[in-house]
Amino acid sequence: MPGNYDESLINDVIKNADIVSIISSYIPVTRKGRSYTALCPFHDDVNPSLMISQDKQIYKCFVCGAGGNAITFVQNYEKIPFMEAARKVASLSSFFDPRLEKVTAPKKVDTEKENIYKCLEDLTLYYSVCLQSEEGEAALKYLEGRGLDEKIQNKYRLGYAMQDGAATCQFLSQKGHSIKSIDDSGIASMSGGTLVDKNRGRVIFPIADEDGRVVGYSARSLNGGDEAKYVNTSETQIFHKGDVLYNYHNAMGEAKLKGYVYLVEGFMDVIALDKAGISSAVALMGTALTKNQIALLRKLNVEVRVCLDGDNPGMDAALKLSSALSKEGLKFRIVDVAGDTRDLDEILAQDGAEALINHVNNLFERIDFALNYYQKSNALKTSDERRKLVVNFLPILNSIKDNFERDNYIYRLSKVVNFTTDSINDLLKDYRKQQRDNNSQVSSDVLYKSYHPEQKYLHKLITTEKEVLYQMLNNKDAVKFYEDNIWGFYDNIYRSIAEYLVDYYKTHDDIDFNDVLNIIANSDLDNKQDLINEMTGIYQEKDKPQCSPELLSDYLNTINEEKNKIYEKDSLSNSISGKDEIEKSRIYNDYHKGRIKKGEKK
Ligand code: UTP
Ligand code: MN
Repeated sequence: MPGNYDESLINDVIKNADIVSIISSYIPVTRKGRSYTALCPFHDDVNPSLMISQDKQIYKCFVCGAGGNAITFVQNYEKIPFMEAARKVASLSSFFDPRLEKVTAPKKVDTEKENIYKCLEDLTLYYSVCLQSEEGEAALKYLEGRGLDEKIQNKYRLGYAMQDGAATCQFLSQKGHSIKSIDDSGIASMSGGTLVDKNRGRVIFPIADEDGRVVGYSARSLNGGDEAKYVNTSETQIFHKGDVLYNYHNAMGEAKLKGYVYLVEGFMDVIALDKAGISSAVALMGTALTKNQIALLRKLNVEVRVCLDGDNPGMDAALKLSSALSKEGLKFRIVDVAGDTRDLDEILAQDGAEALINHVNNLFERIDFALNYYQKSNALKTSDERRKLVVNFLPILNSIKDNFERDNYIYRLSKVVNFTTDSINDLLKDYRKQQRDNNSQVSSDVLYKSYHPEQKYLHKLITTEKEVLYQMLNNKDAVKFYEDNIWGFYDNIYRSIAEYLVDYYKTHDDIDFNDVLNIIANSDLDNKQDLINEMTGIYQEKDKPQCSPELLSDYLNTINEEKNKIYEKDSLSNSISGKDEIEKSRIYNDYHKGRIKKGEKK
């Protein structure tokens, strides 16, 4: 076992975590009776085949076989080492323990990146100091004129970049940052052999990553001249504008508390909401929503409230964005601003905080928002566009369980697209049939996977070994029985799992499934994932008999019988190897005659 494995710490992490909420923070999970299901992220899944058991705190995919507990899920999903995954699980379940700090993070320190972080941290402090300088006065006035007081300036680390952009870079180099680091940080351009700050003369909005470290800036011009309104830091090793959400690190805690996060267009919208008392807001910064941003939102595990511009392009963007959110299974609603095309900060400035809060509480489900939009905007011109819209609505309509509610939407949709409700219903029927066909295709895949023709004659032996292993995973007595009487399963994977259990029971009062799983996950065994997949599969099986000495000795008898048959077969195949066909069939015949004499079925 690789060093620094602290078994009791890992046990505490597992006990404090709930696998359902851990997995939900990565992928959408739906409740299904007493268990939970999800699309399996470990293969190209069409129908939810990942089963999550809250009782047992394990997951298992019945199609690809992937299985494990909360820690191995994070480990495999994020492709990170076991201890790092354990730390993640702890923090996702708000479990704090000083022992977690002591486990030295195996994180590789990338010095180049570290240098950029340090450089930007110094620069951010410098910009904020410059805002208080004599030259910074105009910038300060500008901010105050827009209602951004000292508290907001501090919280958002706003600043000002001096006109002398060469001096700013010189300051950094005097602070000990190399020319390379300054250049790598994406804020400077080369001019006449020296580096010059590209943000010079502008108000600074630092952009931070999810840990709150500054990774880049947006610099706003003070006057509405023809220069660009915002200058953004160029893409660097640590800054990908499309991958960050402005204000995410500040909004995280509040979003979890409130149960929602507002997704808005720009910095000023975030700040306007904050001033009105809604501090769980993040901004897209004028880009389309990316996969990485969706992943950030998913991690919050709260309702996303989409609030984009109220004009037609803004509404269109909201619809596109919501179809991405819906595909990814996030909970969300959309603010319908009913034609009000003002920015949030304009509403705040003109009508006050209460009006702004009312405004962003006009929340609609996607289907209602879309119907409102198409009803009002007349965006649909050709019949092809109208048909496409119906097709886009089919999955939504299909997901509505209530008949009246569904009929109501179909009726409204029919008005928008000018089709009869009958023809929409027909399309819905086709869609459902198609879904069912896809389903049956998946289940035939499953059958195919679990059928191993070459192992047919081993079937009874393996299934009996599996029964014993099930008992062993739940019961120390069964492990003891295995050690005394069986010692060595025919199946390689089962045998390895059993060896771990035998080791485990000698030092523990009872068998703790997740504890054993963690020990295997943290081992340096090459095929440990196979072991974990198998053991979770067996552990989650239901309706098993209670462990008893009689049961175990029945299993033992079956195992011995089946093993004897196999040995016979093995010796048979040894005796025919190298013989010609006629000789082979003679030996086979003799063999079968012998078995019939012994009174066995064929
Ligand atoms: P907006 O034009 O709505 O900016 O663009 P804003 O946030 O309301 O700022 P003010 O009120 O005009 O000062 C939305 C977002 O698009 C990005 C910025 O991130 C901005 O917050 N953007 C806009 C740019 O990156 N560059 C630009 O030139 C304009
Ligand atoms: Mn604005």
